[in-house]
Amino acid sequence: MSVGRTVSIVGTGSYVPERVVTNDDLAALVDTSDEWIYSRTGMKERRICAEDQATSDLGAAAARAALANAGVAAAEIDLLIVATLSPDMFFPSTACFVQDQIGAVNAFCYDLGAACSGFLYAIENARAQIACGAVETALVVGAEKMSAFLDWDDRSTCILFGDGAGAAVMRASDSGRGVMPAVMGSDGSLADLLWTPGGGSRNPISHEMVDRKEHFIRMQGRDVFKHAVTRMGDAVMAALEQNDVAVDEVSCFIPHQANIRIIDAIAKRLGVEDRMFSNVEKYANTSSAALAIALDEAAREGVLKAGDLAVLTVFGSGFTWGANVLEWGG
Ligand code: COA
Repeated sequence: MSVGRTVSIVGTGSYVPERVVTNDDLAALVDTSDEWIYSRTGMKERRICAEDQATSDLGAAAARAALANAGVAAAEIDLLIVATLSPDMFFPSTACFVQDQIGAVNAFCYDLGAACSGFLYAIENARAQIACGAVETALVVGAEKMSAFLDWDDRSTCILFGDGAGAAVMRASDSGRGVMPAVMGSDGSLADLLWTPGGGSRNPISHEMVDRKEHFIRMQGRDVFKHAVTRMGDAVMAALEQNDVAVDEVSCFIPHQANIRIIDAIAKRLGVEDRMFSNVEKYANTSSAALAIALDEAAREGVLKAGDLAVLTVFGSGFTWGANVLEWGG
């Protein structure tokens, strides 16, 4: 069902801050333990930004790495999308700050808000624009400074997230199937299961709002867990069917990195336990950066090889979800 030109990812890159925060470090802050966190989530550590680092700094570092990997100059980028839920500020977009840092002077730039699903949404957004000939070269970035939006007194959320960024360069290609059209969906009726209720126009910044800690992430963990397993599993099946690809043809499944038990449950449901990529142990949940970092690591570690078929899948606040199939290097 692909319409227009074939579109490929021609380079990837990622960046994580230097500071490593282990589960034991968190146990010194809140009432938790390495055993609790690791057994419930599969996480051992996460990276946390230096105070003077903002989301665009992470995104720019990942973008530079992706451009170097692709052999593409910043001035060649026509379209720059940053997927993030932790922008540098409300406006201008974090994409404009990344543009300035990397010198992508010929790009038009915008942020994409789909929470943890953002990087796959951005890939699909760029794919469609390249496929129809509107742009030639796109840079998509998933970047998050989650640590700036966490309540470090709330053990049920602060242990789950980390900071980081990943990026991909996309172009039209004349070989292989490239990035195939995604299946995506949303359900806004479940927004309050995972959100930051304060600080926007619904509940503007005030001393009272801050005292109620409504500017921090809030989550109903168990409900989110169940929806994530169902939605990502369904989306993967739909994306495979839509693109006429069998589960057995896929070399690697790269899901959103939110929790190893979510990843294991999807793998079991699809019968692909031997082909599931995960790095949640090292970085925790970096929201829209998680898929981007995982894709870059899978490529750099040789898990993804030229000609391989891979499936990407995401789930996030909104709720939002999606999946796509791609032929690597083609
Ligand atoms: N350390 C120790 N105990 C903790 C804790 C922590 N860090 N966080 C919560 N607890 C406690 C709870 O207070 C609760 O105690 P209670 O039974 O006395 O009330 C108990 O542990 C069990 O909590 P529960 O929520 O049932 O645990 P769980 O097995 O569902 O695991 C999550 C919790 C958050 C790890 C899990 O629900 C999850 O990963 N959900 C999905 C989250 C996610 O991926 N969000 C992002 C999606 S993009």
